[in-house]
Amino acid sequence: MELDGSKWNQPDIFAWLKTAGDVSNEEMLKTFNCGLGMVLIVGAEHSKLVQKMIEENGENSFIVGEVIHRKEKAVIVKNFNLRISQNLTSVNSKKVLPKKRVAVLISGIGTNLKAIIDYVENNSARTTIDLALVISNKSTASGNKFALDAGIPLKVLLKKKTQSREEYDSILNETLGEFNIEIICLAGYMVMLSEEFVTKWLGRMINIHPSILPSFKGIDAYGQALDYGVQYTGCTVHFVVPEMDAGPIIRQGIVEIMPNETHDSLVERGKAVEHKIYAEALELVTSGKVRMSNDTKSIERL
Ligand code: GRF
Repeated sequence: MELDGSKWNQPDIFAWLKTAGDVSNEEMLKTFNCGLGMVLIVGAEHSKLVQKMIEENGENSFIVGEVIHRKEKAVIVKNFNLRISQNLTSVNSKKVLPKKRVAVLISGIGTNLKAIIDYVENNSARTTIDLALVISNKSTASGNKFALDAGIPLKVLLKKKTQSREEYDSILNETLGEFNIEIICLAGYMVMLSEEFVTKWLGRMINIHPSILPSFKGIDAYGQALDYGVQYTGCTVHFVVPEMDAGPIIRQGIVEIMPNETHDSLVERGKAVEHKIYAEALELVTSGKVRMSNDTKSIERL
């Protein structure tokens, strides 16, 4: 079953409960009906007739979703976050901390993007992350779907072979400007950025690299760690500076390499750690609790 949270009215009382109790979206949906009264499941061809009958009896009705075959979670609710956020502002705007508009840039599977989306949904009452845009450089990137499902604007910016890095980056900058982006979060974005672009976004762009930097820079860092035979590896979230896979470290996570570890198993366990630290590190930056020092060499905690 797939429900669309933007299709029914969620009375302000639920937003109030969420703010006052600091309750996650997941918990709200498990515990309360969040304004969804009686639910009827009818064949699509009968929906108009059924709605007419309900209305003739003086009740309102809305089409709130559809029954679809799902392999994972049996029921999902899309766009729930947006409705709650809007309501929160009207209920108690003083309690909502100012948010920063974030663009996540992806090229592939997008599991880090998905983890950040989930984090924002589950912490919507207190997060300072406003996921305002996803940029992908591939129309076929499977991560694009995560943006669409969450109702986040998605821009696919393909880099033509004839385009220079600078030309591409100026289009990237224009798009970021159109959406008033304040912070960039690189999440497996496989396009080399020009030095000019990186300099423009110094202190406002972060990246996740799958190793304990400064070890194993470059591609396939989990593979490099396995080949080297280290017993521990992990991941690093850092501010982006012109030098590749360098820049002040915001957060790191550790993964122990097991005796019979394979590349696939290490990537899987490594990514689970990435998903946790990336959202936390981004929150530190958007909330202003961590920033890059002016000499770009270290971080400052506020
Ligand atoms: C991650 O391993 C990240 O550390 C690296 O690229 C990969 C992206 O994975 N920079 P996903 O697309 O987020 O699943």
